[in-house]
Amino acid sequence: MVKVVVCIGSACHVKGSKQVIESLQYLIREKELGDQIDLAGTFCTGNCKKGVCVTVNDKLYSVSPETTEKFFKTTVLDAVKKDKPAKHPVPKKVK
Ligand code: FES
Repeated sequence: MVKVVVCIGSACHVKGSKQVIESLQYLIREKELGDQIDLAGTFCTGNCKKGVCVTVNDKLYSVSPETTEKFFKTTVLDAVKKDKPAKHPVPKKVK
């Protein structure tokens, strides 16, 4: 499960965190990734200058409503791909 957390503190709110969340919700629904992405909100994390602050598996990114779709298609989808369990080789038959 990839954890995506959007700051909803006042500085990030002013920079468009609501639109960022709505876009992410839409994109997650569109790609049917609701069972692989955990989208949540958080209060100010102290990185206001970088807002809208979004973390993907605890790594901080600076996102804006204009860059949300690109951010999702690169950073978030990459994290989803990496999160998938590696395919295990088929075990050899034991005689
Ligand atoms: S309001 Fe988002 S980091 Fe401070």
